Amino acid sequence: VTALAAALPGIDVRAWPDTGEPAAVEYASLWGDAAGDMRRFANLKVLFSLGAGVEHILGNPLRPPDVPVVRLIDPAHRTGMIEYVLMRVLHYHRRMPEYAAQQAQGIWRERSQCAPGDRRVGIMGMGELGTGCAEILVRLGFDVAGWSRSPPTIVGVTGFAGRDALAAFLARTEILVNLLPLTPETVGILDAGTLAMLQKNACLINVGRGRHLVEGDLLAALDSGHLAGATLDVFCTEPLQKDHPFWTHPKVTVTPHIAAMTLLQSAVPAIAENVRRHRAGEPMVGVVDPARGY
Ligand code: NAP
Ligand code: GLV
Repeated sequence: VTALAAALPGIDVRAWPDTGEPAAVEYASLWGDAAGDMRRFANLKVLFSLGAGVEHILGNPLRPPDVPVVRLIDPAHRTGMIEYVLMRVLHYHRRMPEYAAQQAQGIWRERSQCAPGDRRVGIMGMGELGTGCAEILVRLGFDVAGWSRSPPTIVGVTGFAGRDALAAFLARTEILVNLLPLTPETVGILDAGTLAMLQKNACLINVGRGRHLVEGDLLAALDSGHLAGATLDVFCTEPLQKDHPFWTHPKVTVTPHIAAMTLLQSAVPAIAENVRRHRAGEPMVGVVDPARGY
């Protein structure tokens, strides 16, 4: 709040739940649905998500339906996601799970090394974050494909678009990165059927949303030997339940939804700039289309 107030001189910035007179609230920045019924803010002009995802706002039946929703687009967020995805792609590409297993048994054994150009990485969701990850993987020489609604046009990336192209995209993929938004069309998209389309021994990096993945189907695909590993940053229930099999599964790496954290120093200027734009009658950055869901 202090940082936002400093970035918005002349504007009364308050921390929830100290909103003051509800009718005086024009802008709200939020994560999750903790604010409850947003319709009581009768003069609300914009709803800002404190993250890239907006399903927590669009899915709230108590949101004022005509107020624009704006997602977070900020460079530090993008960098965080690129770091995380790169770290895990390299982890699988350089066979670190196998070396970790060898170390546990004291085995000194060189394994074959695959050139990046022979490693097929597939990214689902070629938006702000998927594109950032694809660009750097291409620069490192990986064979990268992207899947989105409209055909991706990143130089060096093989583009696939729409449901009809999903099977072909998955069939070529050895390391799958999910960076889709959660919408009615993408919920449960990673299920037994789609996981089975991946190459044998493929690995999954899920940094989109937990509900993209049918968790039991992933466990079955790992246990059958079809998939070699999974890195999961997001889960159907967060925090992940204490007794969830992911915690101890030998092929699963769990992180607590930290792939790209919202950092104050870059999120605040991004939100403040959109408030400035809105007040100046200029287009804001990251306005969501509620009909598309992202
Ligand atoms: P974005 O810029 O809105 O990009 C979304 C991409 O997904 C676009 O390429 C879009 O296709 C594609 N897409 C949407 N619906 C689709 C569908 N039905 N079929 C195929 N492609 C579809 O979003 P972003 O900023 O990159 O963020 C993506 C998601 O990452 C967020 O929504 C959030 O869930 C997740 N995220 C996670 C973390 C974390 O810490 N784990 C952090 C930040 C974000 P078009 O290009 O054709 O529109
Ligand atoms: C985090 O998950 C985000 O959507 O920014």
